[in-house]
Amino acid sequence: MEAKSKNTNLHSAKTGKKDEFYTQLTDIERELKHYRHHFKDKVVYCNCDDPRISNFFHFFSYNFEFLGLKKLITTCYKNQNADLFSENKSEQAICIEYKRDAEGKLMPYPEYMKSISQEALYKGDKDNPNIPNPEDIGIKKLEKDGDFRSQESIELLKQADIVVTNPPFSLFREYVTQLIEYDKKFLIVGHQNAITYKEVFKFIKENKIWLGVDNGGTKWFRVQDHYDIATETRKKVENGQQYFSMGSVVWFTNLLHKKRHEDLILYKTYNLEEYPTYDNYDAINVDKVTDIPMDYAGFMGVPITFLDKFNPEQFEIIGMDRPLIKKMTGKVSRFRINGKELYARIIIKNKKL
Ligand SMILES: C[S@@+](CC[C@H](N)C(=O)[O-])C[C@H]1O[C@@H](n2cnc3c(N)ncnc32)[C@H](O)[C@@H]1O
Repeated sequence: MEAKSKNTNLHSAKTGKKDEFYTQLTDIERELKHYRHHFKDKVVYCNCDDPRISNFFHFFSYNFEFLGLKKLITTCYKNQNADLFSENKSEQAICIEYKRDAEGKLMPYPEYMKSISQEALYKGDKDNPNIPNPEDIGIKKLEKDGDFRSQESIELLKQADIVVTNPPFSLFREYVTQLIEYDKKFLIVGHQNAITYKEVFKFIKENKIWLGVDNGGTKWFRVQDHYDIATETRKKVENGQQYFSMGSVVWFTNLLHKKRHEDLILYKTYNLEEYPTYDNYDAINVDKVTDIPMDYAGFMGVPITFLDKFNPEQFEIIGMDRPLIKKMTGKVSRFRINGKELYARIIIKNKKL
């Protein structure tokens, strides 16, 4: 039931304008604190972010000096109206760049942004003198619509060292593929199910992508009041603002972090009863990541949540259930035990045995 409702939510994000949900500053801070050393003298690009709305832009502009950034580039898709929930009504996008002038001063100076409350920005009241006008904060119009795949955005991408954002979930495959193609470092938000996309899993297996640090718990995203949320438990209202949860949302990255090199502590030992072999593949089944037996040297099938604990010095990833079965039999199937199909599994092997 749980898995079904998650899938329904993910599906709804894939359709229509369902990509319009906004990451909270607390979620960004909780993750970004693990990467501080990566950002010194780097050009950061947030390419799915209206600077007047995005907390990614706010995070990096507030922390420009603290992180020692060289430049911050932020572009959005189509939006031009200074309201929180623009619906991509304008075809032309905007761009803002923070960088240093010849004397090393920041241009435009982020203190200006700091002096404006987020609430004031969110409300987007054009008559309010506290709201910056685009010229004040150096907003430029892009020639085109700001699509991350457009040549104009790709030229900006080429300048970037690290891309950080929450991209449209409906275009996640293409988005990730482009980052790898242009050999960029990145830290991006995505749905846990994206692990199973064949394009994404390929990079995970090749150790070109891994999960970030803060992948547990429920992340709530700010949405418009009329955002269509099918499941009541995925909705909450706080201080008059509506938030939406998409189930398991995680960080994808290729930046090194400490957790990636921590061994998962194993305490169980292998036995036939607890770890049955699949009917259709030569591997044992492990239902919970913490139950991986410490003494089993063969192939083991584990849930996709394993990736949150994956240390490439401890385990090797062999493959995903469906592609492995398809390669063997030509048919699409998950692993089975006593004829019953299981949820998605990743095949791993303990490297230390
Ligand atoms: C999940 S929202 C996240 C917004 C923002 N990055 C944040 O975290 O608050 C994804 C954003 O990508 C934008 N978007 C949709 N299609 C896009 C495209 N082809 N190129 C660039 N951005 C796109 C949407 O307008 C939306 O604002």
